[in-house]
Amino acid sequence: MCFYSLTCAQNKLANIPVLTLDGPSGVGKGSVARIVAGKMGWHLLDSGAIYRGFALAAHSRGIVFDDEQGLVALAKKLDLKFESVEGQELLNVYVDGVEASKELRTEQTAELASQLAVIASLREALLKKQQQFEQAPGLVADGRDMGTVVFPDAPYKVYLTASAEERAQRRLKQLQNSANAGNISQILAEVKKRDERDSNRKHSPLTPAKDALIIDTTCLTINEVVARVMALVEV
Ligand code: DC
Repeated sequence: MCFYSLTCAQNKLANIPVLTLDGPSGVGKGSVARIVAGKMGWHLLDSGAIYRGFALAAHSRGIVFDDEQGLVALAKKLDLKFESVEGQELLNVYVDGVEASKELRTEQTAELASQLAVIASLREALLKKQQQFEQAPGLVADGRDMGTVVFPDAPYKVYLTASAEERAQRRLKQLQNSANAGNISQILAEVKKRDERDSNRKHSPLTPAKDALIIDTTCLTINEVVARVMALVEV
């Protein structure tokens, strides 16, 4: 029990509000997170970019997936930087000092990241890196396990969902301008495979936190989803 005291008041003041936004691939978490963070003036954590950046760094060093020790050692010293560029929607990402934004956002990198993300010791090694994003005046954290594992005490938790078909369509639209855009049936198959792996892994599986607001975005526009999320945090 906490009686009202100066210490309690100080702890309360130090409490940085965190909004967790979890959900499967292609559900629109990234766009919603970006818009809400902008409206609130809060920081943004794209935890998928951390897993993707790590996957690129491991791949470029030729570290194989069963070399758990090598992977964990790399995770601890991962050199990943995010840079926001005026007038540009997505952040630039540097892996080992090299700009890798395009490669980071391909389906191939997402698949590598999903395969590596099943390794518990690796998740543990990346946990602190993600928690360090909790900075005043607030944080919007997007991922798979933000509300369940990384920020379990967050006051605001949202879980976005949508049918796999709708998510594959959205992904296709996002990839439209890239050389390896693929086709809808291929993307749908990849989305389903990643869903299956991310949801059924033993450690930190994709699942809504018990206290999360679940929003089915299948028939909603981005603005409608943003409005529902803002209604939660703007109180
Ligand atoms: O959100 P994304 O598509 O960029 O994520 C790519 C992969 O990274 C995803 O399929 C699983 C993994 N990931 C994870 O395991 N936990 C997170 N919090 C974020 C991503």
